Amino acid sequence: MELVEAIRSRRSVGRVRQEPVAKELIERILESAVHAPNHKITEPWRFHVFTGKGRGELARARAETARLQAEAEGEDEELAAGRISRERKKAFRAPVVIAVISEAGRDEVESLENYAACAAAVQNMQLTAHALGLGVIWRTGPVAYHEHMRGFFGLETGDRIVAYLYIGYPDMGERPRRRKPVEEKTTWHEG
Ligand SMILES: Cc1cc2nc3c(=O)[nH]c(=O)nc-3n(C[C@H](O)[C@H](O)[C@H](O)COP(=O)(O)O)c2cc1C
Repeated sequence: MELVEAIRSRRSVGRVRQEPVAKELIERILESAVHAPNHKITEPWRFHVFTGKGRGELARARAETARLQAEAEGEDEELAAGRISRERKKAFRAPVVIAVISEAGRDEVESLENYAACAAAVQNMQLTAHALGLGVIWRTGPVAYHEHMRGFFGLETGDRIVAYLYIGYPDMGERPRRRKPVEEKTTWHEG
């Protein structure tokens, strides 16, 4: 697929089939990530790939996160049970889930730029998945920011969970893209 066309036609695909994705395709998606620009060649990205029964590990961590949240909010038992169950199931929404982690830099600016590099890596991955005929959505939410999930991935201060990418064969139609015209976002400084 031509690059500009891939950028134009990519859409977040929130509903995918459970049909497994060949490991070779997952590897191509991962490989595309490390070509992203990164300041001082810090290569700050780390990936955790969950497939098949391996998604159970993620499901358990998510369920425990939901339990801790419910406890912190003093939620009653029945509501909490529903919340935990819903959160557990989210790990199985796609046959492949990739968590993208950004490692801390040596100072605040480097950490910021590492995060930016990882965002670029995520977009490479999304475009590669799209070019391979796969659907993908970048998700965050509490599972990206809760202390329990940070512990699950063994993160240290300044490390960040940048994205969970849910990948699989699309099970939904295309949506139109809603964006304001770039002219509204641009100031030209010309001679
Ligand atoms: C940092 C970041 C976090 C996101 N988190 C979520 C999320 O938690 N849930 C979700 O449905 N979409 C999430 N998205 C995807 C956006 O909803 C999506 O990109 C947006 O709706 C535009 O749609 P498009 O990607 O098809 O252009 C996230 C995107 C980014 C960049």
